[in-house]
Amino acid sequence: MKKTEQLYEGKAKKVYATDDDSIVIVSYKDDATALDGLKKGTIAGKGAVNNRMSNYLMRLLEKEGVKTHYVQELNDRETAVKKVKIIPLEVIVRNVSAGSFAKRYGVEEGIIFDEPTFEFSYKNDELHDPLLNESHALALKLATKEEIATIKAMALKVNEVLKAYFLTLGVKLIDFKLEFGRLADGTVVLADEISPDTCRFWDAKTGEKLDKDRFRRDMGGVEEAYNEMMRRVFGN
Ligand code: TMP
Ligand code: ASP
Repeated sequence: MKKTEQLYEGKAKKVYATDDDSIVIVSYKDDATALDGLKKGTIAGKGAVNNRMSNYLMRLLEKEGVKTHYVQELNDRETAVKKVKIIPLEVIVRNVSAGSFAKRYGVEEGIIFDEPTFEFSYKNDELHDPLLNESHALALKLATKEEIATIKAMALKVNEVLKAYFLTLGVKLIDFKLEFGRLADGTVVLADEISPDTCRFWDAKTGEKLDKDRFRRDMGGVEEAYNEMMRRVFGN
């Protein structure tokens, strides 16, 4: 499959067309943004970490019966994926209080929930990705009732699989954001990425943050955290 024109450039990735109309190539950048795009920087090596880790996790999820966009890793930064229309919902699952949950509801970080929480944001940069509920998503025709039920079941399944997997690496999966897309035939698949950009990972023993919060909060040790997660997943 041959890369042709660039279709899109986002904050962390570029997307290219290919000579196969059903496949696109995603290219991961080292660029990082946070705080709604106000904070900009680069994290050396992030593109390669996120590409390889996301692909590994998508393959693991496929084995567990979760349909994803993954097709083939092409090199350190580039992956062939099925072309989808992204459903404009950021789907967030939380196991432990942190981030905007802790802030919005005025609680400390680190409260372990009895059951995972599930929420949507409207993926819309101009509106700053506002929180919305299922009836809002339906009213805005962002997805159908059936799609929302599918997305919710898939997201909770992803949580079960990844929570158990990361625990074997000594990492607690605190929360994460997923995006879903529709294939040409309407099938809903897991898309975008699963990486330290889109998940919170805390070391199970020390509680040390091993994710993008180190960048968001100017904590230092950002590259080290990404490399440590890479080491836990792939060894060496
Ligand atoms: P939050 O606590 O800021 O709402 O973030 C919840 C999870 O979603 C966290 O793991 C980080 C991830 N996330 C993204 O992937 N992209 C975003 O734009 C935001 C705000 C959060
Ligand atoms: N990437 C998002 C932004 O630019 C937010 C984040 O991951 O914190 O706002």
